Amino acid sequence: MTKTLGYLKPYGGTVVLGLALKFVGAVAELFLPLLLEWIIDDVAANPLLSDSDKLKWTLVLGGLMLVCAVLALVGNIIANRLTVKSSGRMTHDLRYDLFRKTCYLDSKQVDGFGVPSLISRLTSDSYYVNQMVARTLRLGVRAPILITGGLILAFTQDVILACVLLACVPLVGITIFLITKRSIPIYFEVQRKQDVMVRRTQENVTGVRVIKALSKSEYEVEKFEDVTRDLAATEFKANKLMSLSNPLATLILNLGLVVLIVVGAVCGNTPGTVLAFLQFFVIILNAMIALSKIFVVISRGSASASRIESVLEADTEEKVGNFPDGDASKKIEFRGVSFSYNGVENNLRNLNFSLYSGQTLGIIGATGSGKSTVINLLMRFYDVGEGQIFVDGKDVRNYPIAELRRKFGVAFQNDFLMAASVKENVDYGRNLSEEQINKAVDCAQAREFVDGLDGGLEFDLAQKANNLSGGQKQRLLIARALAASPEILILDDSSSALDYATDAALRKALAREYASSTKVIVAQRISSVRHADLILVLDDGDVIGAGKHEDLIDSCAEYALIYSTQMGAEREGA
Ligand SMILES: Nc1ncnc2c1ncn2[C@@H]1O[C@H](COP(=O)(O)OP(=O)(O)OP(=O)(O)O)[C@@H](O)[C@H]1O
Ligand SMILES: [Mg+2]
Repeated sequence: MTKTLGYLKPYGGTVVLGLALKFVGAVAELFLPLLLEWIIDDVAANPLLSDSDKLKWTLVLGGLMLVCAVLALVGNIIANRLTVKSSGRMTHDLRYDLFRKTCYLDSKQVDGFGVPSLISRLTSDSYYVNQMVARTLRLGVRAPILITGGLILAFTQDVILACVLLACVPLVGITIFLITKRSIPIYFEVQRKQDVMVRRTQENVTGVRVIKALSKSEYEVEKFEDVTRDLAATEFKANKLMSLSNPLATLILNLGLVVLIVVGAVCGNTPGTVLAFLQFFVIILNAMIALSKIFVVISRGSASASRIESVLEADTEEKVGNFPDGDASKKIEFRGVSFSYNGVENNLRNLNFSLYSGQTLGIIGATGSGKSTVINLLMRFYDVGEGQIFVDGKDVRNYPIAELRRKFGVAFQNDFLMAASVKENVDYGRNLSEEQINKAVDCAQAREFVDGLDGGLEFDLAQKANNLSGGQKQRLLIARALAASPEILILDDSSSALDYATDAALRKALAREYASSTKVIVAQRISSVRHADLILVLDDGDVIGAGKHEDLIDSCAEYALIYSTQMGAEREGA
């Protein structure tokens, strides 16, 4: 929590000014009952004063009451504005840092937190922290001042009546405390259920097509209704409990008032004093109810703050290692590489291969066989469990990450495009020249369809490029990977939506225009990789075949089987 609260530091001046104004407002509010008492007891009921003096003093004290009321009002309004300002800016800074940090988390850390959880930390959790800070600044100072100040002033007026008041305060306090304490876990439950609702909403929005395609809209609506009903029921439970606090506190107050009036009558107190005490009661009661609400937001906010801090404190320090070098004449080399995502069973086992600059590696294998994992390790999204991976003869763990990643141009499997123009998507903030962009668009076989778009390269893509076809998206992703003429080009299942002719034209253009780039091509189709200098056939994390196409046809039964199946399918499709 300290780290989160540290974000208020730059706005210390605003916070202090706000609190000072709150203080002035609270003190001014406390003087109202006193002034009222003076008017009733010392002016109106004073037989020693003439009628004109009574009028004069009533006006003076009434004027003072007006000043106090205005001070309390203005002080509160300005203080609240300052509070909103400082808590809002603090939340902005916190969210900014959290987002930044999230961008620098490595893949393992992202897996650990989970993407939906990272989203809710950035959205609802930072909102709860904002609520905690804003409410605490607004009420956290005012309420204690009103309670202690009210008690002190009450004691200066009448010790016996003040004792009645003092006896009521802990009673009200304990009642509110017990109710709030029971409601806090229910509020946490509400928080968790809100997360579930957000997750469901996200799933439904992103999966809207599948849901429609499978005619599952009604089913999803029913499931969503279950989630919201559950959330509403929990919220109802929490609010039902909290709604007890006001009537119970008022009941105690009214009982206290009866005692106060009886004691006042027995002790011969004036109506003004009793009226002033009535006001003290109301002020203190409201302050205690406000404190109970702060209690809830602090509990909720501090849980959110610790969820945010666990991300902020994640170690994203770049670790540049000092592992032994490999063969500098090779562009890429995997030496005895094994890796496991969960640390239990290996997803890749003893992988060995090397490529010279400008060569092409093809990786083929069934779903889940480890093809994308090879790329994840090569680009160092994860560190190897055993063995070493070298790029230009240097272990990938010895590179500063930015230097290593600069070598790559990559189109990931199911990659994303931004809601921006075609050109901005291909350039992706790298300030590439027109020439580079056009060359990449041509080579990726995207020219024809890009020219057909309204505005060509300036055509704006919808969110997730929903206004493009699957094959068009893939071509733009390939263009983006190519645009900076990378040393190593990685295409992970990037031509699966291209027809055979376009795929073949792409391969030819790659060989011609980007001859010096070393290429790693993951594919399901043998035709996409058959011209590669080396093809790896993966099966459940093991290499079951390695070599050129012609060799594999003879040496790897699985490869030969895939080939014959695909050739058959191709012939049938032709
Ligand atoms: N982030 C991850 N956390 C845990 N396990 C993972 C993760 N990513 C992949 N795996 C597991 O590792 C194995 C290899 O996955 P990988 O993504 O490399 O397969 P693939 O060959 O690329 O499959 P596909 O053809 O479907 O893309 C699979 O069993 C998969 O479940
Ligand atoms: Mg994959």
